[in-house]
Amino acid sequence: MTTATRSRAGDIRLGATLFAARALIRLSGVLGDPFADLLRGQENPYPVHDRVRAKGPLHRSKLGPYVTASHPLINSILRDKRFGIRTTDGRLPAAQVDDLPKLDVSFLELDPPDHGRLRKLVAPSFTPRRIERFRPAIQRACDGLLDELDHHDTFDLVTQFATRLPLAVVGELLGIGEDRWDDFLRHGAVIGATLDGVSSVGFAKELKVALRELHVLFGELVEQRRADPRDDLTTALVQAQADDKLTADELLNIFGLLAIAGSETTANLIGNGTLALLRHPEQWAELRDDPDLAPKVVEETLRYESPVQQSQRVPHEDVELHGLTVPANSQVILLIGAANRDPEVYREPNTFDIHRTDGPDHLSFSSGIHYCIGAPLARLEGDIAFRSLVTRMPKLTLGGTPKVRRSLVIRGLRSLPLRAS
Ligand code: HEM
Repeated sequence: MTTATRSRAGDIRLGATLFAARALIRLSGVLGDPFADLLRGQENPYPVHDRVRAKGPLHRSKLGPYVTASHPLINSILRDKRFGIRTTDGRLPAAQVDDLPKLDVSFLELDPPDHGRLRKLVAPSFTPRRIERFRPAIQRACDGLLDELDHHDTFDLVTQFATRLPLAVVGELLGIGEDRWDDFLRHGAVIGATLDGVSSVGFAKELKVALRELHVLFGELVEQRRADPRDDLTTALVQAQADDKLTADELLNIFGLLAIAGSETTANLIGNGTLALLRHPEQWAELRDDPDLAPKVVEETLRYESPVQQSQRVPHEDVELHGLTVPANSQVILLIGAANRDPEVYREPNTFDIHRTDGPDHLSFSSGIHYCIGAPLARLEGDIAFRSLVTRMPKLTLGGTPKVRRSLVIRGLRSLPLRAS
């Protein structure tokens, strides 16, 4: 068989598998299973979350996994040492389609002790003090993007601002050189989108190319830092590899994880928050009068429209929860976006209110040992973005109908047309 024929056969197999998976989801959806409805992707997932809640704090979907929308239960599972990311024999629980390009997202998908070993190498670069050092660079990147928008009366916030800023910040964090900047932004945008899953043969092909190119780019970066060390995260990781604390592959996978986890998520924080403010003009006006309210906008946006809507865990032994025995190695889906609107813990949970003081911390950055390492950076980016937008474009209004992404994992916009004056 020639390479071209083999590749076509692979595409057909992948296409058939994706088709079969979608058919199963549609069928279960018809049978009234709310988790299947969420898997199909909803423009407005919140009424479906209510149907999950109506089934109690935990129920088993017709598709197999256990599902919960309860804030206290999700918080306790995320902190429970009996639960992990992988099964007891080290597999990831979701069915793997062999032909999909493999994306190793490092310690995000590892259990102790490897999780702690790798996280410990990255954590010192993410303390609030270290992150504060990026403020001028983030402000510069933000100003540069807004300068470009000065020439437009209408623009798309998502493609022209919200997706570009976080990727530029990750590039700055890793120290990508100017000569490779455009390549990083182009391929980074493709792998950032994989948080959504791989849903088409075309996208799978694009992803393969992006992964290959980024692998080369990260390899060059490592060589540069070996030859010319600096006071940055990349040099710290290169040094750790020289000290045998991680392998060459593990090092490259950490770069990939940061590019994926740090871009799409923060982009959606910026897009979702701007839309929520424009739909609540009195709160936009308050921010305009007092830009120091920006951190409150960040926190309420994270609660109200959680950019990461779900995570999952696997019990490593049989666990009793709310009268159900959840067997070892079964999949438990944690609906973070629903937990953040749990009426048991938040008053009027469907109301966007930047002055909200009731309820526990939102779970948008997760909880327990996988708590988002980039939370201080995401908060700083959100703060700078909202503050700069309202200061530079105080008369901002909607310039068309926003297009929502339909995804189980991601809550965000495909486009947000705006008018600056
Ligand atoms: C608004 C923006 C962000 C949101 C909503 C977010 C959300 C999350 C969530 C929910 C998890 C844990 C998933 C789980 O427990 O299964 C996570 C983990 C992680 N995030 Fe973020 N994230 C954001 C921004 C960032 C940024 C800017 C970076 C770095 C550049 C980053 C790096 C990471 C890493 C490395 C992990 C893995 C932590 C671990 O497994 O120990 N994130 N994030």
